[in-house]
Amino acid sequence: APTQSLKGKKVTITAGPTREALDPVRYLSNHSSGKMGFAIAAAAARAGADVTLIAGPVRLDTPAGVQRVDVVSTNDMLKAAEQAADDCDLFIAAAAVVDFRPAVIATQKIKKEDGNDSDALTLVKNPDIVATIAARVERRPFVVGFAAETEKVVEHAAQKLARKNLDMIIANDVSNPEGGFNSDRNEVMVIDHSGQQPLPAALKTELAAELVALIAARAFPHN
Ligand code: C5P
Repeated sequence: APTQSLKGKKVTITAGPTREALDPVRYLSNHSSGKMGFAIAAAAARAGADVTLIAGPVRLDTPAGVQRVDVVSTNDMLKAAEQAADDCDLFIAAAAVVDFRPAVIATQKIKKEDGNDSDALTLVKNPDIVATIAARVERRPFVVGFAAETEKVVEHAAQKLARKNLDMIIANDVSNPEGGFNSDRNEVMVIDHSGQQPLPAALKTELAAELVALIAARAFPHN
């Protein structure tokens, strides 16, 4: 049986993509499968945590013992995250959040016949969910983020750790064939204020258990 390293802890995890509507039939999104976040949720539940999994649109079953909240847009994910974080010890942001959304959502299908041959899509910046939680003064959980990078992985992830005021960041090189968006495997570097630790390539399910053990040891060292 796994060690109960998160026994009694309340853990919130965001996972999957978000999706931003352009009109009733179209949206902006990305290829995130949600596998890493769901694997972490499953591992955290096995480690004894009380887990809330805030999931964007994904095709995955809810892990055993996990309370799932389904969301679509980034603003909905933020709302669910703020609510969950009000009563939470550890917040892990594994979602691939869409950075920009259409400035307006057309109420009717946008017709190509209506205008020019090219049309400008005006986008506005979405809120940063993990940075919003990490900026809290009161009711601030231990905050862990992810960084998907293609070069200077450690340098860029360390900058993200500082800029978003995170306690820990899990960096992965998405240009590496051993990992990334839709893969079942991943290989990461865990970075916090005390240094960095590589976790070698493994199945996302195995890696999730190692990550949960490492996060628990850093977040709750006196347990
Ligand atoms: O800035 P970047 O998107 O690379 O940061 C990745 C980390 O920030 C991930 O943990 C992701 O879940 C989180 N994030 C977020 N809200 C955003 C953008 C990213 O929570 N709008």
